[in-house]
Amino acid sequence: MQRRRFLKTAAVGSSFLILPSGARAGKNAPGNKLNIALIGVWGRGLAHYNWLADENVVALCDVNEARFPEALKRFPDAKTYVDWRKCLEQKDLDAVVCCTADHTHAFIANWSLNRDLHCYMEKPLAISVEEARIVRAKWLPKKDKLATQVGMQRHQFENFNRVQELIRDGVIGELSAAYAWGNRQIRRDGYLPAEGEPPAGFHYDLWLGPSPEHPYNPGYFSGGPGMNCLSWNMFWDFGAGQIGDMGSHTMDLLWNAVDAQLPTSAEAKGEEFNPDVTPVECESHFEHPANDWRGPIRISWYQGGVMPGSPREYIDLNKVGHGAMFKGSLGFVIADFNSRLIVPHGDSADLTYYKPRPASQLLPPVGRFEKQWVEACKNPSLKTACDFEYSGNMIEQLLLGLVAYRVGRKIEYDGATGRVTNCPEANDLLRRQYRPGWTLDA
Ligand SMILES: NC(=O)c1ccc[n+]([C@@H]2O[C@H](COP(=O)([O-])OP(=O)(O)OC[C@H]3O[C@@H](n4cnc5c(N)ncnc54)[C@H](O)[C@@H]3O)[C@@H](O)[C@H]2O)c1
Repeated sequence: MQRRRFLKTAAVGSSFLILPSGARAGKNAPGNKLNIALIGVWGRGLAHYNWLADENVVALCDVNEARFPEALKRFPDAKTYVDWRKCLEQKDLDAVVCCTADHTHAFIANWSLNRDLHCYMEKPLAISVEEARIVRAKWLPKKDKLATQVGMQRHQFENFNRVQELIRDGVIGELSAAYAWGNRQIRRDGYLPAEGEPPAGFHYDLWLGPSPEHPYNPGYFSGGPGMNCLSWNMFWDFGAGQIGDMGSHTMDLLWNAVDAQLPTSAEAKGEEFNPDVTPVECESHFEHPANDWRGPIRISWYQGGVMPGSPREYIDLNKVGHGAMFKGSLGFVIADFNSRLIVPHGDSADLTYYKPRPASQLLPPVGRFEKQWVEACKNPSLKTACDFEYSGNMIEQLLLGLVAYRVGRKIEYDGATGRVTNCPEANDLLRRQYRPGWTLDA
């Protein structure tokens, strides 16, 4: 019996199980561990070692062979690969954890789903609108059997639940707008010039992967563990700048509360367009239709020091480096990842209309974010907080903002077809060009 079938059978609690020798039934029994491929083993990958050690890491993949000795100390039985396409051919895999550079995320997500592998993908899920749409569309028909999660682990902070409860329970009346921002500012002029040779064992061509050719420069790889993404994620061919970086975490704080799908329009403005580098200063605004508990809303994203206006002069939003604000008919909620502030507004904002939930009705804690995904892999009836639908919608919206920024006008968007309806040149920017030999969906 194949390992994956065993896990699934065990998970649905079948009364008749054939156990592999030495295995015991039960969700946390030694025989019921996931066989995981870790792709991108250093940097962000290191942050996952402790919880991964509770499962079977059977494959390690990294374009930099120098990263293997440390990873093998922790996962000595794993096979090693430098090309993730080969890694995904390993037959005993149940699941993939991916911590590679952003320009490969949608590829590895699609390829994993095509092989019926559960997938934990570091954020951002994609760096083009088309990529986000393809990954989401691939996962939706498989959502009852494959668990997915995008690495927006701040979502496990209790404050995310508390903010959602405040907004949904009407503490600020009828919601009309929501704003999220991040003030990180890392400026680059353009792609780095050719400098030196990749060190032995570093497969730079595989690192480039599907992205267009750019000469090697050690400056792309000079950051510390978990911070090196700040050396490449601002370049259009390697990332989506702020929105793929802290933007993913901070928009999540907003997204979790407003219950939005895809926007019907996007408009954006920012610093002068640079064909190499994503903007530092930029703001984008999206219109979202009404749903069953609120009217239409406008969602805004501000980055690089550009900020929404404060509702009161005595509140300095600039002191909140990464935060969100919600505007309603009766006031504002301002939040960072761990705290929140209610600002009632207007003579009728006496809060009599707001009833705090009893403890028994608070939203349940997410618990350990990565473990939530592991549990869902083992029991497909369980949900994850940041699956490829929730996270795919969120990143599609943000990436559409970059398209609006590039065309410099308000674009109307049909989320059903994924087409901009009033600006043909915007449609050309929904997708990226890939190097020959690399297939997004195979
Ligand atoms: N969730 C978070 O809080 C958080 C924090 C930091 C980084 N990240 C995300 O994690 C990812 C990695 O960031 P990082 O700073 O660790 O970057 P990094 O440049 O250090 O890369 C991480 C590892 O992946 C390897 N790698 C890169 N591309 C690869 C490929 N195509 N195939 C196999 N291995 C590959 C690198 O050699 C390195 O060992 C990024 O997508 C970033 O957005 C998330």
